[in-house]
Amino acid sequence: MKFRSAAWFGLADRDGFIHRSWMKNRGLTDHLFDGRPVIGICNTWSELTPCNAHFRSIADHVKRGVYEAGGFPLEFPVMSLGETLMRPTTMLFRNLVSMDVEESIRANPIDGVVLLAGCDKTTPALLMGAASCDLPTIMVSGGPMLNGKFRGRDIGSGTDVWKFSEDVRSGALSECEFLEAEGGMNRSAGHCMTMGTASTMASVVEALGIGLPTNAAIPAVDSRRYTLSHMAGRRIVEMVQEDVRMSKILIREAFENAIRVVGAIGGSTNAVIHLLAIAGRIDVNLSLDDWDHLGRDVPCLVNLMPAGKYLMEDFYYAGGLPAVIRELGSMIHRDALTVNGRTIGENSSDAPCHNCDVIRPLGDPLKPDGGIAVLRGNLCPQGAIIKPSAATPELMKHRGRAVVCEDIEEFHTRIDDPELDVDETCVLVLKECGPRGCPGMPEVGNMPLPPKLLKKGIKDMVRISDARMSGTAYGTAVLHVAPEAAAGGALAFVQNGDMIELDVAARWLHLDVEESEIEQRRAEWRPPEPPSARGYYKLYYDHVLQADRGADLDFLVGASGASVPRESH
Ligand code: FES
Repeated sequence: MKFRSAAWFGLADRDGFIHRSWMKNRGLTDHLFDGRPVIGICNTWSELTPCNAHFRSIADHVKRGVYEAGGFPLEFPVMSLGETLMRPTTMLFRNLVSMDVEESIRANPIDGVVLLAGCDKTTPALLMGAASCDLPTIMVSGGPMLNGKFRGRDIGSGTDVWKFSEDVRSGALSECEFLEAEGGMNRSAGHCMTMGTASTMASVVEALGIGLPTNAAIPAVDSRRYTLSHMAGRRIVEMVQEDVRMSKILIREAFENAIRVVGAIGGSTNAVIHLLAIAGRIDVNLSLDDWDHLGRDVPCLVNLMPAGKYLMEDFYYAGGLPAVIRELGSMIHRDALTVNGRTIGENSSDAPCHNCDVIRPLGDPLKPDGGIAVLRGNLCPQGAIIKPSAATPELMKHRGRAVVCEDIEEFHTRIDDPELDVDETCVLVLKECGPRGCPGMPEVGNMPLPPKLLKKGIKDMVRISDARMSGTAYGTAVLHVAPEAAAGGALAFVQNGDMIELDVAARWLHLDVEESEIEQRRAEWRPPEPPSARGYYKLYYDHVLQADRGADLDFLVGASGASVPRESH
């Protein structure tokens, strides 16, 4: 069987000389160019991405597996996205990385790919780029950190930061204690160990079948993470030989499985945007409404922060995602193919659960409603979402007076003001934080509450924005309002004092203002200035789709395949 890489390494002429000879500058032997599968290892390692800083070790283990199976591994870097450092938000660059991945794969002598991802956006970015090429592909996630520790108890990355921060603002925690917690929260290699976006997306990888079983939960420092990496290296060589391309795995049923799994794990709202974008690259027709109808009857089974109390390390020891998939029974398309050549049903049929408080049975779920609710109404004609399992039940049907901030700067300026005219029945509204608005749609949708309400013991309020929310966050936050304010959506026309109605059971979000008044405000509205006249910011601003379409760039939707480009010499 002749592979794609033969168009480079299989040539007997001057070009073949050039392609092979320069590769030999590191001591590679002739037999590596004998037509065996060339496996690209796409690495998001970076010291600026703490969650992915151990990826060189993972790549080494993948390489061992590739060599062992008779392949030729070649590791290559792509831009990395670290949640904790990048500004204004990694989401701005997700699509850019996807282009980097796509073009790096297509331009090089690669027959199959192992994608190494961990921190939130690295997972969707790599899947999107690789899907547009559609070669045989396996993703290996980097794994979560060990449980955080503070004064004898477990603490979760992200989730407890928000809690500690509010405790400092309300006076319940000293700054000295806050600093002590900082040292105990992230104490090993790996990504956030709550069921935040990284863990959710690692679970999505496993549920889609594009990662090996147990990929989601093995801690980054557990030796079994390296075993899994080794096995991924072995398997990708076979996948090239069997021509198992991404499009054979990422079919509609696989996406439906992933949506149901996100409900069962109490996963991040960010998965909504990312799955829509990935589906758009592999010609699967997935819509925002699929999230609602497929997730509606899925209970949250996994008792992990932010919805519950445990962490990813506990989840792995309890049985991990295979146990959840088995428990979901007929809610899962069990005959969907996965990268190990078996179906997802075969992979999970005997999966044991070792701790039924961490992974609850269907008959005794953590929360009855684990899915994502999709809202409609005059405030969000293209949709908005809320995660019921992270919200306060009493606020799921609510009518309140809008307290409006025109952008995130105004929010930061006003929220701590003791004179702010707000009480716990109000609805906090934040504009200009959508894909075009900020730009990049930052995770500011779980707006901190005003200190004067925190001091009264108020823990939650209805909040509405066109922003995203960290997967580690919680609260009654309506997110991803589409169209966003910066694109002239109705959110732009909300004013202080307007009444807003939320009814999650009815999937309804309504600005209770006369239509004629809304039209008057629309006529007076002027779009904000674009963030930049040049560079990637301009490309992004001009072409980004709204949240209900996955916030991909309009010209990136779809695939170009992996045909061999013309020779360079
Ligand atoms: Fe990287 Fe949370 S900061 S996964």
